[in-house]
Amino acid sequence: MAPAPLISVRRVTKHYQAKGGRYVALDGIDLDIAEGEFVCLLGASGCGKSTLLNMIAGFEKASSGTLEMRGRSIDSSGSERMLFFQDAGAALFPWLTAAENVRFGLKLRSLPRKAQDDTIARYLAMVGLAEHADKFPSQLSGGMKQRLQIARALAIEPDVLLMDEPFGALDPLTRRRMHEELLRIWQQTRKTIVFVTHDISEAVALADRIVLLTVGPHSHIAATFSVDLPRPRQSTDPAVAALLTEIEGTIDGGAIGEREAVSS
Ligand SMILES: Nc1ncnc2c1ncn2[C@@H]1O[C@H](COP(=O)(O)OP(=O)(O)O)[C@@H](O)[C@H]1O
Ligand SMILES: [Mg+2]
Repeated sequence: MAPAPLISVRRVTKHYQAKGGRYVALDGIDLDIAEGEFVCLLGASGCGKSTLLNMIAGFEKASSGTLEMRGRSIDSSGSERMLFFQDAGAALFPWLTAAENVRFGLKLRSLPRKAQDDTIARYLAMVGLAEHADKFPSQLSGGMKQRLQIARALAIEPDVLLMDEPFGALDPLTRRRMHEELLRIWQQTRKTIVFVTHDISEAVALADRIVLLTVGPHSHIAATFSVDLPRPRQSTDPAVAALLTEIEGTIDGGAIGEREAVSS
């Protein structure tokens, strides 16, 4: 028997009260996520990716269906081992150094000072910021700020990282570097990652498994793709190119709906 999934989403539906009546954003989502897996939720903007991630985080309640982590219902109390990581750059404290930004999250875990210092040093080193511990966010580049945010997130040692288009605002080169960085950290820590994107090539670069959603309303899973290819993945690699083409073909074939397509 396969091991029990870390996260299990069953028949989940989400609707919102809208002016014109009820808007059914998600309709019948079934998804299992294994411990250590890197899953990308891919879909056009407005299809319900953030809604699904917010429900996994316990920020929003499903209208029907169940969400569980390790067999326990995800509610506001069950989400403490998950960390939500959104657009970078915004959430650092400008008046704290890099090291103190990382410490901020640790205080919530009430670690002794020495253990805090060790953890801070370890995670700053992991993201390549050991030399910059005493700098303030304003003294760091955009990419460094993002790495600092990742260090702060990882230092809390969550079981799951939930990332909602975290690199959407970055230029393509910095974004590529962040992909490498994130993959390196993931390979070191084997955290479970659920990563939302509307970018096919980003999903193909990162994921173990890509979950493609249809456009809304009534968005559901159109297809899933297992990506058993070595990393780093170059779009010039024939196997990578073939997967990109396969996903594009699924989208163009109408599987995700007619109104919008995701971009690559
Ligand atoms: N709080 C809300 N109230 C009403 N409609 C919402 C709310 N949040 C999201 N929606 C709608 O649900 C759909 C999915 O939104 P979202 O999950 O943000 O999509 P995505 O992240 O894929 O771009 C959209 O049509 C959006 O307008
Ligand atoms: Mg979104």
